[in-house]
Amino acid sequence: MSGKDIGEEYWNEHSVKIPAALHAKQPGAATVMDYHAFFDPQYGGTALAEFFFEDRDYPTAYCHHLWESISWNLLSRVNESNLALFGKSTFSLLAKQCITENDKTRIQAARQHRIERLLTGPVWLNMGCGGNMLADYLNIDQHAEVGPDIVCDIARDTWPFADNSVDQVAFIHSLEHIGAELEFVIRELYRVCRPDAFVRITAPHPAHDWFLGDPTHVRPIVPAIFQHLDREKCINGLLTGDRKTPLALYWNVDFETTKANYRLDSQYEDHEAVGR
Ligand SMILES: C[S@@+](CC[C@H](N)C(=O)[O-])C[C@H]1O[C@@H](n2cnc3c(N)ncnc32)[C@H](O)[C@@H]1O
Repeated sequence: MSGKDIGEEYWNEHSVKIPAALHAKQPGAATVMDYHAFFDPQYGGTALAEFFFEDRDYPTAYCHHLWESISWNLLSRVNESNLALFGKSTFSLLAKQCITENDKTRIQAARQHRIERLLTGPVWLNMGCGGNMLADYLNIDQHAEVGPDIVCDIARDTWPFADNSVDQVAFIHSLEHIGAELEFVIRELYRVCRPDAFVRITAPHPAHDWFLGDPTHVRPIVPAIFQHLDREKCINGLLTGDRKTPLALYWNVDFETTKANYRLDSQYEDHEAVGR
């Protein structure tokens, strides 16, 4: 049972107080067990992380308490295909026992149904989705562990979409992970997009600690990159003696930049307001 079902303020009522009152009134109506029978892994410290990511023994546990208030962020993203993320931990061994062959077939059919439904309307792609699944998008990632709709290495595999079939593409913190394969990605992006498709790219500023700190960030993303992918700008550049590489002509693509925004981290927003 989840605390969300019974109301957070009542969890203690249902799990502890009512059984204790029952036991006091009618000894034998309820069995009182040791604290550890229900509260392993314990709250706080490293206990919950050990339960999720290590293979531990809980010899006195009758059931396990997952402390939804601190674990929901992780649990809400667990599904049958990303259990591998937890290795051979107590949690993953128990969770695997709960998933039957029947469940796997049902989940696979539901996923297939979702893909087919999303391919019938305007098609929106979320490339490099990681754990950030978007409801109306086909979520695509190279790692099956994150449980995307479609597993695809967008830097190497031909994208599984027909020419001119996609209406919108989001790269949310993913394009900066594409290195030498950028040409392949941009050509595939152009191939699958319908004319006037919308591409949204969100990336950390190249001077941001977030960009610098992740060793899988291999490409700074700045608005100027996309000027090289704009056919008209490249042609004008050639006519006026501009020496920038006319990638739109070399790669046979054409993207127009409609908007480029910089957003400050929230702790600096007030600096901007006072002109710092
Ligand atoms: C920093 S995470 C961002 C995840 C998510 N978009 C978000 O905003 O939280 C980058 C994601 O891009 C994915 N990615 C990187 N290179 C990729 C590739 N070549 N093909 C598919 N996915 C890729 C990674 O697997 C990872 O899940």
